[in-house]
Amino acid sequence: MGSPADRKQEQREAFRAVDPASGPLTTDQGVEVDHTDDSLAAGERGPTLMEDFHFREKLTRFDHERIPERVVHARGAGAYGYFEPYESCAEFTRAAFLRDPSVRTPVFVRFSTVQGPKGSADTVRDVRGFATKFYTSEGNYDLVGNNFPVFFIQDGIKFPDFVHAVKPEPHNDIPTGASAHDTLWDFVSLQPETLHAIMWLMSDRAIPRSYRMMQGFGVHTFRFVNAEGRGTFVKFHWKPKLGVHSLVWDEAQECQGRDPDFNRRDLWNAIEAGEYPEWELGVQLVPEEDEFSFDFDLLDATKIIPEEQVPVRPIGRMVLDRNPENFFAETEQVAFHTANVVPGIDFTNDPLLQARNFSYLDTQLIRLGGPNFSQLPVNRPVAPVRTNQRDGYHQSTIHRGTNYFPNSLGGGCPAHAGVDSTAFTHYTERVDGAKIRRRSPSFQDHYSQPALFWNSMSDWEKQHIVQAFRFELGKVDARTVRARTVEHLAKVDGELAVEVARGIGVPEPEATETASKLSSPALSLESLRGNGS
Ligand code: HEM
Repeated sequence: MGSPADRKQEQREAFRAVDPASGPLTTDQGVEVDHTDDSLAAGERGPTLMEDFHFREKLTRFDHERIPERVVHARGAGAYGYFEPYESCAEFTRAAFLRDPSVRTPVFVRFSTVQGPKGSADTVRDVRGFATKFYTSEGNYDLVGNNFPVFFIQDGIKFPDFVHAVKPEPHNDIPTGASAHDTLWDFVSLQPETLHAIMWLMSDRAIPRSYRMMQGFGVHTFRFVNAEGRGTFVKFHWKPKLGVHSLVWDEAQECQGRDPDFNRRDLWNAIEAGEYPEWELGVQLVPEEDEFSFDFDLLDATKIIPEEQVPVRPIGRMVLDRNPENFFAETEQVAFHTANVVPGIDFTNDPLLQARNFSYLDTQLIRLGGPNFSQLPVNRPVAPVRTNQRDGYHQSTIHRGTNYFPNSLGGGCPAHAGVDSTAFTHYTERVDGAKIRRRSPSFQDHYSQPALFWNSMSDWEKQHIVQAFRFELGKVDARTVRARTVEHLAKVDGELAVEVARGIGVPEPEATETASKLSSPALSLESLRGNGS
């Protein structure tokens, strides 16, 4: 089992616990224990004695078994595997793992639901996380994506508002699972930038039949940078070899009752049976000079680049071929971070991406108990790590020498400079303009792409979307929220709005000019050229 070039597997061996069957039970200090069924007491029925260190240690360790679950994406399932490029992408990126088709890079992938807690059901209507850690020879690269190509908000400052609206209500922690509740729909109806992702959420894409049959998307526009320092905008796509398949709503609900672990069991069993799931990695590439040639802003994470405009170019494949050995150690403790990039892959000014680059490390500092979680086996790079960072909770490295730079006395890691440097260099981008707090006008069309999505659906897919809106919105108590949401849908497509309105007891909206009938772009982005955007 496993891939030949799996340096990650070799590295994990070093962290394996002693085989528990190889000898008698011990304490954490390695002292053999003769009895673990009764605590030490004074006499037959007397008080338990403090001196019973095994008893105290056993309870203490049990008491501390839980760590905070992820604030979002708490429920997940993971697997190891490998990635290999089809051919060299050196024309666009200097990333070593994308330049040499003979190199297999080990990966760990975690799939997740977003809203529910760690113990919730798999087959709820929700976005699915699709996060990949590439253990490359140049350090870890994390592609922290979802199974929708767009997100609900444009600016990360809205993330806490959005998640508070999505999560169960604060007074009674109801509902969990289905997203049907007043706070979510209130937020949606007041924040129409959510509409495109909401269309995806009401579609069958939100109830995947299997993680093995799910697309993944990097969502943001990222940047490839080649050896000459030339940047190219890039959107990442994972396409499953098994095709994209969904459950229908009734099946999804039945699965929740019969087998809440439906998706994670499916992934686990397939890998155990040797039916290794596989995805193709594709990229949409946009030359920097074409930044403003679209009728939407490339920095707006609520927009896709239509594939008719920029085709997806396949660049490699990923196979998952090994289940983790310990759910907590690996799937729970894995820490993905959008800012974990390698030379050749860089950011853009997408304000959602910029927020994520802050948030992941920040939350992991508390979730994983301090700054040393990158030393955990699942997070540890296979590339050598040499830093001047020291100490902190759970330090498990025995560092040697001094730890500062510049340093003439020996020790301390120098920064690597020079023309042939293999170090990460940040992409040079001109930024100018005054400090502002407002959304770019190029982010203001919220209806054209939901309409594009709606128009791309077949009749039965449209029916499922209408039924989903009726089911979810029909549970909202506040009539004003129902009506306000339908008003937005009316700007997407008249038929959609009328069909939804009829099912949830709100007045049918007046005929209005809908985005689905508009053919011309709402905005010219040409005006933004040279605006530091
Ligand atoms: C998990 C924040 C948007 C995909 C998380 C976590 C946080 C977070 C705090 C928990 C991480 C942990 O405990 O290790 C944010 C913020 C966002 C945002 C602030 C917007 C500003 C997105 C978007 C995507 C995404 C747009 C998809 C492109 C994921 C995934 C995970 C995750 C896949 C789970 C990672 C795992 O499996 O451990 N996010 N997120 N998030 N987020 Fe986001």
